[in-house]
Amino acid sequence: MTAPLPPLRVVVLVSGRGSNLKAIAARADAGELPVRIEAVVSDRADAGALEWARARGLAVSVLSPRDFADRETYGRALGDIVESHTPQLVVLAGFMRILSDEFVLRFAGRMLNIHPSLLPKYPGLHTHRRALAAGEREHGASVHFVTPELDGGPVVLQARVPVLPGDDAESLAARVLREEHVIYPRCVGWFAAGRLACRDGAAWLDGRRLDAPVVQGNDTKEGA
Ligand code: GAR
Repeated sequence: MTAPLPPLRVVVLVSGRGSNLKAIAARADAGELPVRIEAVVSDRADAGALEWARARGLAVSVLSPRDFADRETYGRALGDIVESHTPQLVVLAGFMRILSDEFVLRFAGRMLNIHPSLLPKYPGLHTHRRALAAGEREHGASVHFVTPELDGGPVVLQARVPVLPGDDAESLAARVLREEHVIYPRCVGWFAAGRLACRDGAAWLDGRRLDAPVVQGNDTKEGA
């Protein structure tokens, strides 16, 4: 019998309430996700996620960009903090800051992000409002590897939700967020199991190049 693999060392970057962080932690606590959250790092001292992380006894670091001259020096210092925890995977969970190219390249192939749109649609901010304004009938969320192009890295997994009559940005965001909490832990699990990789500018799952993202609910063979 082979011993189970040690849990994947993960560092999570947050700027806000951290519901995606909590969703990943909950799956790990339930024994459904072989990851250990080594640290939570934020650009904001007032991020709600930090109180929760501290209460759990997780290592927490706050690094404000205001204390740095530019994106590059900030990215270097941030990268040093993240690297000090020797992560196998860096998880951006509502980290609302554009990262320097150097930071992104430092963690290339081992950094995931979740974005609240069906990428390549609506990169950047205010995705729900923009989807509504465009009259979209479908919206959603994407988990992707991070590359220097903002919200432009290879997409691994998407969840689609309908846009319903009477939706406003808040109701649509809430519907999308419920799906985020499903697809982000799922992708992290694939990575932890050694099933997911990023190379040659593409995401690979189970040795197969993903020419299009897996769609949550539509996939039959990708498993948990
Ligand atoms: C999530 O909806 C996530 O997709 C989004 O921020 C929210 C964070 O929520 N991320 C981005 O917009 C990144 N471009 P959370 O703090 O509750 O996880």
